[in-house]
Amino acid sequence: MCSIIGYKGQLIVAPVLVDSLKRMEYRGYDSVGIATINNGKILLKKGVGKVVDVNKNLDLSSMDGHIGIGHTRWATHGGVTEKNAHPHYGCTDSIAIVHNGIIENHSELMEELIELGHVFKSDTDSEVIAHLLERYYAEHKNIKSSMIETCRRLKGYYAFVAAFEDGTICGSRYNEPLVIGLADTGYFISSDILGFIGYTDKAIFLDNRDIVVLDSKTLQIYDQDGKTVKRTLTQVAWELAAIDKGKYAHHTLKEIHEQPSVVEKIGIQNLDKIEEFCSILKNSKAVFLTGSGTSYHCALIAKHILSNFAKIHAETVVSSEFQYTLDGIDNSSVLLALSQSGETADVLQAVKAAKNVGAKILSIVNIPTSSLAKISDSFLTIECGPEIGVAATKSFTAQLSLIYMIVDTLCNGYLGFKVNKQFLVGALREALDYEIEIRGIAEKLRDARDIYVLGRSIHYPIALEGALKIKELSYIHAEGIAAGELKHGPLALIDRNSYVIIINPNDSTSDNNIASAHEVKARGATIIGISNTPNEVYDIFIKIPFIQCNAIYPIIEVLPLQILAYYLSLVKNIDPDYPRNLAKSVTVK
Ligand code: M6R
Repeated sequence: MCSIIGYKGQLIVAPVLVDSLKRMEYRGYDSVGIATINNGKILLKKGVGKVVDVNKNLDLSSMDGHIGIGHTRWATHGGVTEKNAHPHYGCTDSIAIVHNGIIENHSELMEELIELGHVFKSDTDSEVIAHLLERYYAEHKNIKSSMIETCRRLKGYYAFVAAFEDGTICGSRYNEPLVIGLADTGYFISSDILGFIGYTDKAIFLDNRDIVVLDSKTLQIYDQDGKTVKRTLTQVAWELAAIDKGKYAHHTLKEIHEQPSVVEKIGIQNLDKIEEFCSILKNSKAVFLTGSGTSYHCALIAKHILSNFAKIHAETVVSSEFQYTLDGIDNSSVLLALSQSGETADVLQAVKAAKNVGAKILSIVNIPTSSLAKISDSFLTIECGPEIGVAATKSFTAQLSLIYMIVDTLCNGYLGFKVNKQFLVGALREALDYEIEIRGIAEKLRDARDIYVLGRSIHYPIALEGALKIKELSYIHAEGIAAGELKHGPLALIDRNSYVIIINPNDSTSDNNIASAHEVKARGATIIGISNTPNEVYDIFIKIPFIQCNAIYPIIEVLPLQILAYYLSLVKNIDPDYPRNLAKSVTVK
């Protein structure tokens, strides 16, 4: 959602904040701002746009001082304008705050504060935090007490960092992450370890409602009643610092290309944990699978292979709907939650609902220190390194591969994933070799209005995923359709301007897919076949490599769709790493 950062230490703060915000920008990139404290004065600069652009216009990194806070925003309350960009002052410039989350009772609090004479300058829910702190600081003349009083009044979910003109930095969280980084050169308070990983690998993950106060002498953590609490120091992985684009033009392209090596490594360090997962899945009465967006598409494939190969029936529920469909889940059930970030609010809410009825929670995450990992009974990591591009690519193939490992273990190798893994890695490398051809196809589709992606059986979730990638990266209307459903309605949409992609590796679904392709071709559509075998029905052919084990084609066939979506974004002049209106980690409901 939004990213927040605070720093106090020996370094000149502004370039540190700008650097941190660039690293965390994938969380939100509508607007950016920083506030620094120097000689008892808070100086604030903010603007609309990405960090580099705002920095170019305002020269954020030239601000003085060794203490400061910063923010990149993904708008929830109030438009994308400079006045709504963070940090926000209260009535005076003696306190500034940055916030991530939603303050649900902000209207009520605002009314109360306006009665007391406070004047609000933005349309955000966040500004109320600055005014509350100002109010309670005026009353108590004590920063810790004003933090406690303020946090008591907030409903909703939040992580915020506040800067006081005396140089104190404070923060608190409730259901939004906030992490302290302990570097030799100073302290960080950040929504994400990427905010400080270039400076230190020592982190303290705050608990819900913890309050951290960083004054001139010490760093103290208090609970909501003001009692000092101790939180564990965690050493985080330095590899997470590796977030440069290398030789690639965009993170998205780099992440697409990382997939063969990500799949090659999958599960190797997790063999005992995989066994533990298998035993929990085998011994539970009912299995539920959940996730959002791309992770949900992985859950749909998991359902197929669990049932076909491990003979375990599973229910799949998209996380945002989970709370409405709790029937049938109880303390003899297991919920397997999939999430790259481990911070998606919808997923966390689904998990909490399942936990409340006593279900066991398993999860698959990329970030082992994430909220989802913490509330799970057991978790596995996909270990694909940081995924910066907003469109999930390598995390999807990593999740899928781990699911295949689990199911292959459950069915004693009958699925054939483990024995074919090395062939799969080779096939993924080969699939990437078609990048240039696919770039040419993207040119042809530049003016497409509608793209339909068809697949059957295990390929249907890939049709959904391919369509999601196309809409997210190119803003072209795209729909994933179960090929057999065409004749039940969607066929009415097809005309000479339609492009239809058919996912058709040569397996048991192939003949029916070819029949569907003829049906749409007869209505004038241009057919793009993704297959290992050419066919005269395809107007455009995207070749994927042959592999012995048909069940693992989904991991291969998604690659050309990712590459197509990436090049569609380029031909339409869209930045694929930062598509409009989206954020990488969706921590609001
Ligand atoms: O971090 P998560 O896997 O929980 O994220 C879930 C979705 O928000 C995410 O997959 C989203 O759909 C991607 N941007 C799609 O490319």
